[in-house]
Amino acid sequence: MANGDRVVLALGGTGTVGSGLVKALLDRGFKVAVISRDSKKLEKLERFVSPPTKGNLTTLVGDVGSEEEAEKVRRDLLQAVGKVTDVVSSLGFSWWQGGAPHTQSLKELHWVIETLLFSTFVSWKTFFPLVRDDPDCTYTFITGGAGEKLLMPGTGFLTVGAGSALAFCQVLLDEYPEVPCKLNQLKINMGVATPDRMAPGFLNHVDLGEAVATLVERKKMTHTVFAINSSADLKTVILEGTL
Ligand SMILES: NC(=O)c1ccc[n+]([C@@H]2O[C@H](COP(=O)([O-])OP(=O)(O)OC[C@H]3O[C@@H](n4cnc5c(N)ncnc54)[C@H](OP(=O)(O)O)[C@@H]3O)[C@@H](O)[C@H]2O)c1
Repeated sequence: MANGDRVVLALGGTGTVGSGLVKALLDRGFKVAVISRDSKKLEKLERFVSPPTKGNLTTLVGDVGSEEEAEKVRRDLLQAVGKVTDVVSSLGFSWWQGGAPHTQSLKELHWVIETLLFSTFVSWKTFFPLVRDDPDCTYTFITGGAGEKLLMPGTGFLTVGAGSALAFCQVLLDEYPEVPCKLNQLKINMGVATPDRMAPGFLNHVDLGEAVATLVERKKMTHTVFAINSSADLKTVILEGTL
């Protein structure tokens, strides 16, 4: 199937990671759909993508962390684009350094888990059936190495939230070993930033997007965790379609 016949749903497409991916996918000729809770972020994304590709971007307002809203936005999405062939999920938040656990409230922990885990679960439950039974379809999760260890003092809840999302994605790979859809995870063991916020140890979000777009395009692998530890890993993925 040509890229122009494929429709990628980019969950988290307005975010730092997601916006780089949306741009890279559009530049490769894919049609892309993005759902956000905030219409202003969708307008910003429309200004960010390459102008000639804007016609291939569909935006919808909705909260994919709520079962009712996700169901409604799924219907709106299918009405707007007809079908979805691929999903990339990069939901959550970029950074959290609210302090050591004894200084935190249960409300804060709820927010962290809601944003990183519940939205990933509810959206997967809602959108996976659209691609599950087709070997030409893909579902890719972006996760972070923050889920495996404390990055620095005060970032504990980031580890708790990212760790729960990481565990959830690993459970899916193990619970659905036979599913025809190409189900993969990219675990980014680095920071990701826009060019104005780049620092040592960070990946440019569009470079990361190009690597993810390559995996979606080639759909060679399934049930694989691609661990990205350097920008050289991204180059390998872009050149070889695998790691
Ligand atoms: N940034 C990094 O350095 C980095 C590094 C490694 C891994 N990661 C992983 O990449 C993922 C995304 O990070 P990011 O930096 O792109 O975060 P971000 O810039 O804060 O973006 C988060 C995205 O998630 C979306 N989102 C969250 N809850 C949602 C909901 N209920 N309904 C709809 N959309 C929802 C937001 O959409 P709206 O707010 O527009 O609704 C936004 O598009 C995280 O899981 C993170 O662990 C990030």
